[in-house]
Amino acid sequence: MASVSDHYQAHLAPVYLWMAGGFEAALARGESEIDTILPDLAPGWTGVDLGAGFGMHAIPLGRRGCSTIALDTSAHLLEELRRRAERLPVRAIEGDLLSFPRYLDSKADVILCMGDTLTHLPDRQSVESLFSLTSDGLRPGGRFIMTFRDYTSALEGPRRFIPVRSDDDRILTCFLEYAADHVDVHDVLHEREGPQWKLRVSSYRKLRLSPEWVSAALEEKGLAVRREPGLAGMVRIVATKTGE
Ligand SMILES: C[S@@+](CC[C@H](N)C(=O)[O-])C[C@H]1O[C@@H](n2cnc3c(N)ncnc32)[C@H](O)[C@@H]1O
Repeated sequence: MASVSDHYQAHLAPVYLWMAGGFEAALARGESEIDTILPDLAPGWTGVDLGAGFGMHAIPLGRRGCSTIALDTSAHLLEELRRRAERLPVRAIEGDLLSFPRYLDSKADVILCMGDTLTHLPDRQSVESLFSLTSDGLRPGGRFIMTFRDYTSALEGPRRFIPVRSDDDRILTCFLEYAADHVDVHDVLHEREGPQWKLRVSSYRKLRLSPEWVSAALEEKGLAVRREPGLAGMVRIVATKTGE
C-alpha cells in the first residue's frame, strides 16, 4: 500500500488533469462551485485551499482577489497550479495540509478542503486535529468548506469497480476494498504503448467518514454546520466559525 503522497507522485498526479476532464473543464467547475459556496467573496479576503491540487478552487479564489495559500503534497500538481495561476495572489506551498497555520499571518476568511481530500488523512485523530486548527485559524463568521465522499455504505461485488475515465489511449478504473474504518483504493491504469496496453496499479487508503461524524466533530470545535449535496455525488459541509 503506497502512502498518499507516493501514490500521487508515482501514479495519479501525471494523469490527474486528464482524469479531471482537462484543465479548462475542471476550472469551469471550480469557478461555478466557488460562486455557489461563496457568493459574498470580496477582494482582500484571505483564503486557504488544503489539498489544492492543480488549483481548481485556488485559482478562482485568486481571480476574485482573495489572497490564497494553496497547500498540497504533490510537487507535480503544484507546478501546474503555479504555471496556471501566473500573477494571481495565490501562494503554492508544498507541504502537509495540517501545517497550514504556519503560513497564515492573520485569521482566514475562508478555508477550503475540496474534492475528497479530507478522506486522504491517515486517521480520525488527524481529521479532528484539522478541525481544531481550522476553527482557530478562522475569523468569527469565517467558513471552513469541505467536500468528500461518503464511503460508509460498502459497495459489493462488481459495483466495487468504478470506471473513472477512458479514451482511445488510456483507461482508469478504480477498485474499492472495504475495511472497518477505511477503504483501500486501487487505481488501475491501462495506457496504450504502441500496439500494446500497459497495466499499472497503485493503491492507497481513504477514510470512511460519515457526514454525521464529521458534522458532530466540527460542532464540537465551535463551528455551526450546514450540510448539502456537493459536485459529483460528494457531500458538502459548510462550517461557520461562531462568536464575535
Ligand atoms: C482528490 S485531490 C483533490 C484536489 C483539489 N482539491 C480538487 O478539488 O480538485 C486530493 C489532493 O490532496 C492532496 N493531498 C492529500 N493528502 C494531503 C495532505 N496530507 N497534505 C496536503 N495535500 C494532500 C493530493 O496531493 C491531491 O492533490
